[in-house]
Amino acid sequence: MSKVDVLLGLQWGDEGKGKIVDVLTPGYDVIARFQGGPNAGHTLEFNGIKHVLHIIPSGIFHKDKLNVIGNGVLIEPAIFSEEVEALRQKEVEPTHNLYISKKAHLILPSHRLLDAANEQAKGNAKIGSTLKGIGPAYTDKIARTGIRVGDILEFDFREKYQLLKFQHLQIAKMLKFDVDSFRIGDMNLDEYEVKWMESLEVLRKFHLINSEYFINQCLKENKKVLAEGAQGSMLDIDFGSYPFVTSSSTITAGVCSGLGVAPSAIGRVMGITKAYCTRVGAGPFPTELFDQTGRRLCELGHEFGATTGRARRCGWIDIPALRYACMLNGVTDLIVTKPDVMNDFDEIKMCVHYNIGDKKTDEIPFEFNEVEIHPELVSFPGWKQELGEAGGYDQLPERLRTYLAAIEEKTGVRIMAVSVSPDRKDVIFK
Ligand code: GDP
Ligand code: IMO
Ligand code: MG
Repeated sequence: MSKVDVLLGLQWGDEGKGKIVDVLTPGYDVIARFQGGPNAGHTLEFNGIKHVLHIIPSGIFHKDKLNVIGNGVLIEPAIFSEEVEALRQKEVEPTHNLYISKKAHLILPSHRLLDAANEQAKGNAKIGSTLKGIGPAYTDKIARTGIRVGDILEFDFREKYQLLKFQHLQIAKMLKFDVDSFRIGDMNLDEYEVKWMESLEVLRKFHLINSEYFINQCLKENKKVLAEGAQGSMLDIDFGSYPFVTSSSTITAGVCSGLGVAPSAIGRVMGITKAYCTRVGAGPFPTELFDQTGRRLCELGHEFGATTGRARRCGWIDIPALRYACMLNGVTDLIVTKPDVMNDFDEIKMCVHYNIGDKKTDEIPFEFNEVEIHPELVSFPGWKQELGEAGGYDQLPERLRTYLAAIEEKTGVRIMAVSVSPDRKDVIFK
């Protein structure tokens, strides 16, 4: 019996999960997403092609590998259908190697309306949601009013849909949201609904399965399964900087409920971190840089959201947050991405403790959003060298290796690989 390996983000998302999953896929038989939905944007690059995936797992470009969208994921059929079309344009036919859980919940157009209504009602306290309907759809799941993928095969689907939509419109009215002015792209709600309904036909062409049986059968047959996380540990619904979080379990625990595998079936847990730190949307970010260095990280790292195009906030790597994420996930292997972005930097800093008032702490405080955190920074000399031609790990510049060794030492987790460009070919295994 094999185990499920896990690959997930340790920061606030966008650590490079898509790229790394694509690189690791040849070593697996099945790649499975376990949570999140189209709020994710996972970028892959190879042969000069750049591709962004939102709901479909990042193993999809390997035609001989199976991909699974697990029960913990949210599917927005119209976005899904666009993703399928974009893959077909690149000569990938996903109906062949993508299975979808019947228990995955659907995002309705009116969930997206409610996302906008909720954000508007929050005013200055808004989360900076991607507005893909994530919060409202997970709300309905937990409230036991949601609609699942399997329901699209049932005769009373339309009835269920209309009832739920009616409830959403009532809530939007209560929130004093102007439904008539609401747009998704250039469409109003009614126009988008037509497109959404048509997209169900695309979804119906896929293998809709009880994915928990499928995954467990794969494990029984000793097949290798990789679970692909979305978002990051600091956006987790329980342990992230609540309420500035997403609405799912982004940590290893989410793999069990999002795929239907037992905790004892979890194998290696590979955690990804950038060599610095980014965050998109609102919420605390202790190491954020508001100066020229922050702007350089954003520019050189092309730190613009893969889903919304928003500029990402940038700052130094945050060891207390990273250690917290390693603890919550049981990380066995670290993967560090994007050190190449800092190739020209004279100096690189690392936050090793937080100072809150006159107290030094290594813990993420409960009052994370309220207190002023002064990061205690240590400085490393930059390596001032291109990394493109690097062969093995030992050939990386010594100053970069010193920086990486400090990350290992301070997290207590060994680094398994370092990524030095957006391209599939540039990953150096240790
Ligand atoms: P994900 O959501 O975790 O899959 O990450 P995103 O795709 O949202 O953002 C990561 C961005 O960094 C993408 O534009 C990737 O192409 C890019 N990227 C990934 N790894 C590296 C790397 O090692 N170096 C550089 N320069 N870019 C990288
Ligand atoms: P990937 O998988 C970065 C952020 C949003 C917002 C908050 C809540 O590409 O790493 P939501 O739409 O879930 O209600 O937004 O979470 N967020 C992400 N930030 N990467 C992501 O996914 C994210 N998914 C959500 O910006 O602050
Ligand atoms: Mg992303």
